[in-house]
Amino acid sequence: MSTPQRVLVLFAHPALHKSRTNRKLIEGVEALDGITFHDLYEAYPYLHIDVAAEQALLLEHDIVVFHFPFYWYSTPAILKEWQDLVLEHGWAYGHTGNALRGKRLLCVTTTGGREDAYQPDGHNRFTMRQLLAPLEATANLCGMGFLPPFVVHGTHLLDEDAMEHHHSDYRRILLALRDGRIDPERASLFPRLNTDLEAIFVDEEG
Ligand SMILES: Cc1cc2nc3c(=O)[nH]c(=O)nc-3n(C[C@H](O)[C@H](O)[C@H](O)COP(=O)(O)O)c2cc1C
Repeated sequence: MSTPQRVLVLFAHPALHKSRTNRKLIEGVEALDGITFHDLYEAYPYLHIDVAAEQALLLEHDIVVFHFPFYWYSTPAILKEWQDLVLEHGWAYGHTGNALRGKRLLCVTTTGGREDAYQPDGHNRFTMRQLLAPLEATANLCGMGFLPPFVVHGTHLLDEDAMEHHHSDYRRILLALRDGRIDPERASLFPRLNTDLEAIFVDEEG
């Protein structure tokens, strides 16, 4: 029996009323047992982040999910502000900064660009894993494990069936993370966490 993992989703979409893909992805996430859903733009519309509250929330969880639409090859502004303020020296990193050690970070993101654009010879010239390197380096500095990202590409081209499929994959991944049913070593062989779900699950949910 795996130890249950407490999962914190830090969601950052600055214009949720215009969102199609992420609005679908987060449908029902709030109601999942053992998953804390925290909408950063809703909590801090003026980006005045409550550092103590955010640090307390982090301490209560084992897996942190950054969930955001990909903006300018990076995160929306609030997630950068969150990192700049919350990941304090002496708390998250540095000699006495051990608060996040042993936890894991997962990035969940959606891109307008298609998957083939995110290749060394593609339109955007870099892979998603390369572009997410600053977040991977941040996780590393804080002693956190970094999972391959969950990425939905080509958002403008997704029909209803494709959206349902990604929504279902996201839900299954969150539940599997919570239940300790994802094998991090097998997952690390894939560019995306949602490349082949059956291959990374320790066993299927009952
Ligand atoms: C300010 C801004 C910057 C964007 N930058 C990128 C980008 O760098 N790469 C990309 O593939 N798509 C980019 N997009 C497209 C978004 O990633 C895409 O619209 C979003 O993931 C769709 O999700 P939503 O329906 O939840 O908004 C950008 C969109 C906006 C508004």
